[in-house]
Amino acid sequence: MKKILITRRLLRSCEDKAKELFDANFNLNDELYSQKKLIEMSTGCDGILSALTDKLDAETINQLPESVKIISNFAVGFGNIDLEAAKKRGIAVTNTPDVLTDATAEIGVLLILGACRRASEGIEKAREGGWVWSADMLIGKQLTGTRLGILGMGRIGQKIAKIAKSLGMIIHYHNRSKLSEEKEQGATYHDNLNDLMKVSDVLSVCCPASKETINLINKDTLELLPKGAVVTNVARGDIIEDEALIDALERRKVYAVGLDVYKNEPNLNPGYLKHKSAFILPHLGSATKETRTAMANLAIDNMDEFFKTGDCKNKVN
Ligand code: DGY
Repeated sequence: MKKILITRRLLRSCEDKAKELFDANFNLNDELYSQKKLIEMSTGCDGILSALTDKLDAETINQLPESVKIISNFAVGFGNIDLEAAKKRGIAVTNTPDVLTDATAEIGVLLILGACRRASEGIEKAREGGWVWSADMLIGKQLTGTRLGILGMGRIGQKIAKIAKSLGMIIHYHNRSKLSEEKEQGATYHDNLNDLMKVSDVLSVCCPASKETINLINKDTLELLPKGAVVTNVARGDIIEDEALIDALERRKVYAVGLDVYKNEPNLNPGYLKHKSAFILPHLGSATKETRTAMANLAIDNMDEFFKTGDCKNKVN
């Protein structure tokens, strides 16, 4: 039986599945492993089932025991892993695409609605009590007829587009390449980010974090948005330059933000906390029972496939 390290707790049914297939070492207290601890815990392991909270940078990967042949990431994103370093060491890296598309798109739409309709302020007021309905209380932005700019029209972006269209939004997108008509669903393609920014009354960041996308949403690109635009991010915090976005909020260049992901999670830039118009969630994208179960099962299946065949369809390096 192959020996594996599972760095974070999984839902019980998934841990049971892992026990059946592998000699699995569980993190019973669900603590965040330091680099040193993760390396230590991997001793004698053939594989690591990692989570997005594990920083598997080159330094860590280079110190992993020789026996480790696969890192199966329990996430679709793999910005926490240095793919090049893993490749150099002959370690395969896999992810969990498809299974979290719907759940993450739901949160993407929640961010749009929450930011546009001032949900944070509404919740606060309702909890405080003593509010009296009035015609102008917490007036927000209606979505009907509003242009939604989607940065990264992959599976999650396409699903957000579909839901947003049913809410009467007009969809624009920027992607490395134009999609087929079937996938585009009537959306307008922009072959560069600047053009997308200019028509985005609401921006939805859905692209993966990579060397090319880090800080793509910055002082210069934010300036191109229509005045009073809304910025949402369901992908990765690294894509947004926080100081620039907070400054845009302060200047009312940006009306509101809806964020589920942050640079340096969980320590989000405190500038966001000062703004009532920041609708913020703690990285809930895939947090439903169905999706977390499917993700963990896929991460386990990826390992199993790799150990049996030496390859895996969800290999990303
Ligand atoms: C992912 O899988 O990348 C998600 O962000 C996890 O919620």
